Amino acid sequence: MAKLIPSLMLIMCLSSVVLPQSESQSSETKKVTRLHFYLHDVIGGDKPTVWGVAECNLTEVLASEFGKLVVLDNLVTSGPDVESDEVGRLQGTVGLADLREKALVMLLNLVFTKGEYEGSTLSILGRNPLGAAIRELPVVAGTGAFRMATGYILTTTYFSDPARVHSVYEYNVVVYHNIFSSSL
Ligand SMILES: *[C@@H]1O[C@H](CO)[C@@H](O)[C@H](O)[C@H]1NC(C)=O
Repeated sequence: MAKLIPSLMLIMCLSSVVLPQSESQSSETKKVTRLHFYLHDVIGGDKPTVWGVAECNLTEVLASEFGKLVVLDNLVTSGPDVESDEVGRLQGTVGLADLREKALVMLLNLVFTKGEYEGSTLSILGRNPLGAAIRELPVVAGTGAFRMATGYILTTTYFSDPARVHSVYEYNVVVYHNIFSSSL
């Protein structure tokens, strides 16, 4: 009997820890949101938003530009025109990380600066093979309205001028995330 009491107490402690966790795993708090917008990639002119910060000896030698690293803070708009409504900014680091073809490793945060998602973010981490007509990128996390987000992006080149100074990329995003709650 003296031995039983401690084990009973242990079981009671364990169950009180386990219960709240299983309750909080309710799938009813999840929601799917689809977003559509355009990204402005400006590498030259008066106000470039993409800046090269590093490269290696292979960058100039290989067609894939392996080893080049850029930091960007690109405008995101609702339409393809740069004067259309601002949605947010796509900020982060992009590297050319493939020896054989032009493919990016992307480490980006999309911060919404206007509209119903203002202040919320989505985190993008993945490979972007620039040679493909349609590129797929993973959404790995989010904050605010997009807390606990996972999802994917399909992106295509909408426009690129001959000198590639200003390119416009179309983004179609599908995210699965928790329903927004204003309490932290
Ligand atoms: C890169 O190129 C420079 C100039 O040719 C050379 O001195 C250096 O050793 C090279 N670095 C590597 C890691 O190959």
